[in-house]
Amino acid sequence: MSGEESRTGSREPGRRLIIIAIDGPAGAGKSTIARRLARHFGLLNLETGAMYRAFALKALRAGLPLDDSLALERLAAETAIRLEPGDEENRVLLDGEDITGLIRNQTVTDAASRVSVFPAIRAWMVRLQQRLGASGGVVMEGRDIGTVVFPKADVKIFLDAAPEVRGQRRFDQLGQKGAPAVQPEEVIRDLRARDERDRNRADSPLRPAADAVLLDSTEMTLEEAVRAAQAIVEAKLKPSEPVS
Ligand code: DC
Repeated sequence: MSGEESRTGSREPGRRLIIIAIDGPAGAGKSTIARRLARHFGLLNLETGAMYRAFALKALRAGLPLDDSLALERLAAETAIRLEPGDEENRVLLDGEDITGLIRNQTVTDAASRVSVFPAIRAWMVRLQQRLGASGGVVMEGRDIGTVVFPKADVKIFLDAAPEVRGQRRFDQLGQKGAPAVQPEEVIRDLRARDERDRNRADSPLRPAADAVLLDSTEMTLEEAVRAAQAIVEAKLKPSEPVS
C-alpha cells in the first residue's frame, strides 16, 4: 500500500521527544485537548481520525460499497495520505489534494467509521501513524493510539463523557459553523451508532489501554478538561522521587 506520509514542522531545539496518546469516543473533546496539550508542551498534534476520513472520502468518491473489504484494500494500495500538523487543525492531503475542508460532514464521518473496521485498512493506517510519530514530540489522538499504534507512549489519556453531553457538544460545534440542519437528538443518535461500531469492531476496538489515565469530562467545561489533561501529563513526566 502506498506509504507516503509527511510530517512537516521543524523540530525546535529542546523540544521533548515524548509521545502522548489521547484516545476516546467522538465528542469527548479529544481534538481540542490534544491541540491545547501540543501547544502547551511544544509538541506536534496529529489527528489520526482525519486519515480515516480522508480514505473514506476517496472510497465515497470512487462509489465503492463501504462493506467491500477487498475493493477497499485495493483502493488503499493506490492511495497516499499526508497529514501536516497545523496550529488549529491538521492539513490533510489525499493524493496531493488538500481535502481538509471536505471531511467533517456527516456522510464522511459515517463512512470513516465504516471503513475503519477492516483489519487491512487499520494495519495500513497504523503503519503510517507509527512512522509519523516515530521520532516523538507528538500528541497523537484517535481510538487505538495507546493500545495499538504506540503501546509504549509516555502518557496515555482515555477521554470520555456521557453520550448526551458529547452529542450536545457536537451539535454546538455544528452551530458555530453555521445553522445546523439537524436536531440535537439526531446528532446524539448518530454518535451512539458510531460509538457502537467503534467499540465493538473485532480489530482494535475503542477501549482504554490498561495503563491509560481515564478522564471523564461529563461534568467539566472544556477549559477544566484541558487543565485536568495538562495536570495528568505533568504528573506523568515529573521525575519520580528518589527512594531513600
Ligand atoms: O476521531 P474522528 O471522529 O475524526 O474519527 C473518525 C472515525 O475514524 C472514527 O469513527 C473511527 C475511526 N478511527 C479509528 O478507527 N481509529 C483511529 N485511531 C481514529 C479514528
